[in-house]
Amino acid sequence: MSELIVALPYGAVSPDEGVEKRLERFEAVRFDEPVIFPKPRVIGRIANREAFSAPHDHRGDFRLPFSIDPTKAEVKYEIPPGLAQLQEAIEIIAKHEHGNFPHEQRPAPTQADATIDQSIVEPGETQRGDRIHLDGHMGRWENIYLVSSSSPTEFFWTDEPACLKFRGMGLSGEIEKEGLEGPYVPGDYEIVLANSTVPHASPVVQEGGPRTFLRVAYEHSLEITGN
Ligand SMILES: [Fe+2]
Repeated sequence: MSELIVALPYGAVSPDEGVEKRLERFEAVRFDEPVIFPKPRVIGRIANREAFSAPHDHRGDFRLPFSIDPTKAEVKYEIPPGLAQLQEAIEIIAKHEHGNFPHEQRPAPTQADATIDQSIVEPGETQRGDRIHLDGHMGRWENIYLVSSSSPTEFFWTDEPACLKFRGMGLSGEIEKEGLEGPYVPGDYEIVLANSTVPHASPVVQEGGPRTFLRVAYEHSLEITGN
């Protein structure tokens, strides 16, 4: 494990001003999943592209343990051996996550769940399957941060909250493209934050080539409301 210390932005330990509004909306729909930012947004961009996409054939899920020190306004991450190329991406993601969603307002997590996928994608193929799907679990939601070196993930949205429209759909469910808005496609090396209830898919690539994909997910829970 190598250590990454990320200085948190000013105000990172102050209340998350958006949380009340999101919880009100959750109460309004009276469903076990919250309705928060239905559209994805870019929160940063990787500068050292060569490092991020260095081909090492990494594929699989891994954990990113972290600990927050509010007195020093910093968070310490443990990066698994061999994954130092993700350091810049993790730093940008950590700054945004801990800066905007202070851990005091939800059960303090001690790790993020991550996935890396490095492969050569053939023309007309997808790296991770073209099924439009949701991430996350029932009764809670995740902030998911995604970045790809090429052919970025495509996102979709609907005129009603996806968590209501597709309620009861398991993680293995496939969502019909018909009736969805989008796709929204970020740029290469742009880090996107989406709620886990936002439908998304790995795109079919036109010209084949290497693709490095990173996903970092933080669980957010409703337990802070007493539910
Ligand atoms: Fe996904």
